[in-house]
Amino acid sequence: MTKHKGFWWEEPWTGEEVMGYKTGVIREYKDKFGLDILVETGTYAGDTVEFGRHRFRDVYSVEIDPRNYEAAKERFKGVPNVHLYLADTEDWLPEIVKLLSEEGTVYWLDAHKSGEGTPYGKTPFPVLEELGILLKANLKNAVVLMDDIDSTFFQKIKAIAPEAQELGGWIAEMRIARGIQDGY
Ligand SMILES: C[S@@+](CC[C@H](N)C(=O)[O-])C[C@H]1O[C@@H](n2cnc3c(N)ncnc32)[C@H](O)[C@@H]1O
Repeated sequence: MTKHKGFWWEEPWTGEEVMGYKTGVIREYKDKFGLDILVETGTYAGDTVEFGRHRFRDVYSVEIDPRNYEAAKERFKGVPNVHLYLADTEDWLPEIVKLLSEEGTVYWLDAHKSGEGTPYGKTPFPVLEELGILLKANLKNAVVLMDDIDSTFFQKIKAIAPEAQELGGWIAEMRIARGIQDGY
C-alpha cells in the first residue's frame, strides 16, 4: 500500500507530495496487476508522462489544449515510448481502447477544464463519459484510476452504470480510508 500523510485538513500536502502520492497509486496498481501500458487523459505539462515513461513500456496521453500539446511534444521529442495526441478524450478514448484491447493497461483519467479561459471538450469534466466508454469496452486486463472525483460523482454514476454503484461505494471508502480530499 502506498504510504500517505495524515488527513489533509490536519496536515496540508505540498504539490510534490500530491504528485508523489498520485504516482505512488499508479505504480501500486501497475505492480499489483503486472500492467505494461499507461493511458492518461489530460497531458497538461506532462509530469505524469515523465513518471510513466520510466516505468511503463508505453505511455499514451491525450490533450485538448494545443499549447499544452505542443509544449509536451517538445518536452518528449525523440522519446520512443511516449505517444501524445491532440484531441478531445471523448473522441479519442474509444479508439485507444480498441488499439490496446489486448494489453494490460492502467487508465489514469485526469482530463478536465483547468482554469479560466482554458479550452475543454463537450463537457468541462468528462470523467463520467470516459468511464462510460471504459465500462462499455468490457476490458479484461485493465485498472481505471480517476483523479479529481468529487462528492457528486457517486450520484452521477448511477445514470451511466447502475451496476457500478458498488464500485462507487468502494472508491468512496478507499478515499475516506486514505484521507484524500476532493480535488485530488
Ligand atoms: C489537471 S490537468 C492534467 C494534469 C496531468 N495529468 C499531470 O499529471 O500533470 C487537466 C488537463 O486536461 C486537459 N483537458 C480538458 N478537457 C479535455 C478533454 N476533453 N480532452 C482532453 N484533454 C482535456 C486540460 O487542457 C488540462 O491540460
